[in-house]
Amino acid sequence: MKISFASAASGDAIAVPAYADAILSDAAKALDDATGGALTRAIKASRFDGGAGETLEITAPSGVEATRIVLLGLGKPGDVTASTVEKASASLAKALLTSGAETLSITVDGDDGETAARAAMGAHLAAYRFDKYRTKLSDSKKPSLKAIEVVSGDVDAAKAAWASWGPVAEGTQLARDLVMEVPNVLGPEEYARRCKTLTELGIEVEVLGEKEMTKLGMGALLGVGQGSVQESQLVVMKWNGGNQGDKPICFVGKGVTFDTGGISLKPGAGMDEMKGDMGGSAAVVGLMAALAGRKAKANVVGIVGLVENMPDGNAQRPGDVVTSMSGQTIEILNTDAEGRLVLADALWYAQKEFDPEFIIDLATLTGAILISLGQEHAGIFSNNDELAGRLFDAGKASDETVWRLPLGPEYDRQIDSPVADMKNLGEGRNAGSITAAQFLQRFVNEKPWVHIDIAGVGMNGKSKDPRQPLFGTGFGVRLLDRLVRDHYEG
Ligand code: BES
Ligand code: MN
Ligand code: ZN
Repeated sequence: MKISFASAASGDAIAVPAYADAILSDAAKALDDATGGALTRAIKASRFDGGAGETLEITAPSGVEATRIVLLGLGKPGDVTASTVEKASASLAKALLTSGAETLSITVDGDDGETAARAAMGAHLAAYRFDKYRTKLSDSKKPSLKAIEVVSGDVDAAKAAWASWGPVAEGTQLARDLVMEVPNVLGPEEYARRCKTLTELGIEVEVLGEKEMTKLGMGALLGVGQGSVQESQLVVMKWNGGNQGDKPICFVGKGVTFDTGGISLKPGAGMDEMKGDMGGSAAVVGLMAALAGRKAKANVVGIVGLVENMPDGNAQRPGDVVTSMSGQTIEILNTDAEGRLVLADALWYAQKEFDPEFIIDLATLTGAILISLGQEHAGIFSNNDELAGRLFDAGKASDETVWRLPLGPEYDRQIDSPVADMKNLGEGRNAGSITAAQFLQRFVNEKPWVHIDIAGVGMNGKSKDPRQPLFGTGFGVRLLDRLVRDHYEG
């Protein structure tokens, strides 16, 4: 989607704000006058109320060049925030995406560059499509909208704000593309190749294959991938936008490109969704692209563990014991609890290699987090109240919300094993997300750390948020960008 900023509207479709009780903005009033009262008449003839995100379309109005005028509801004027505008603008773009209109001008009230940029952000996020495998989509179902222009009282301020938000939208779309991509195409090797393309943004990318990981002793990660014909990969991405010598902040992602469950095979129904079991890693890759794209003043390391979990003659068995890079041994009781095994070695590597200021991991780790929180919040687990609090606030600010769940020795005890240092399962299904987090914590050394379980929010086939497509949401990019923006730059 082409995004631009202008001081006057020139699109096929022109959107102007209206407020609660269908109060017209100045821009809307001007159009109402120009069209001989078409807007007022349309409001009378409809149930449009100016509520946040409501739209009302007036097609082929007389007296103006535009082929349609759209009233965009923003709710009560006093309640309008950047987030309201972003969301409303997303609803608008969704409504017009396949309407026939090719260009859309969105007028935002006032001259606040931030608001204008967030309007662009909402529309950009909402216009996302994953159509690459649809060769027979009829013309009438293809997106018609090609360009979005945001009309603002201060075009320069809007452009400056977009320089910082545009890359976050792009990074989110990249994460979505990775989650949506099909599993016969996006195996660990192809995924690593795609990560390599981030060098274009000034990111250093290093790929470790099985040989290097064997040398490092990553028996936990390698065990998960050993049933796959594809080679497991660990990709390390570095963005050095901060002061030389400052400790980096570090993000680690689970990248299981397909999770069959392995020998503890999952049931067939819905298994296709497990192509999205790399959503945590996709968020890390998208975040790195966003931070580099907006030249964030921070040193950031992103690490993704890429494996395919397959049943095979060479696959690991329930009962196997593997030795992780940390030296700790793990009894594998269920080969479907594989994400924690991948993260165990990736987390250890991150700390040993980079001694980061903090470490945050993201993973589609447990079905149990859906039982706890549904698809409205990601679950977070932390050893550090300050970092967890900052992440909570970043969630509120970005509309990618998180909710903290507890950790504690009484849960940790559940993963003790009589055979090895630990087992990869808790006792029974209860508190499954917490026992998974306890497992990860055994690979964290006194570093501020947050684990984000995005099994519910990273893939969402029922999302009602107009900024999100169905399935691959790209969750985590905007959340973590916000965290970095608010606390770890300059
Ligand atoms: N990738 C799954 C978790 C998952 C489930 C993500 C549903 C998205 C939707 C993970 O690897 C898994 O299989 N977890 C098991 C753990 C269990 C065996 C302890 C689960 O949640 O059932
Ligand atoms: Mn699994
Ligand atoms: Zn998994």
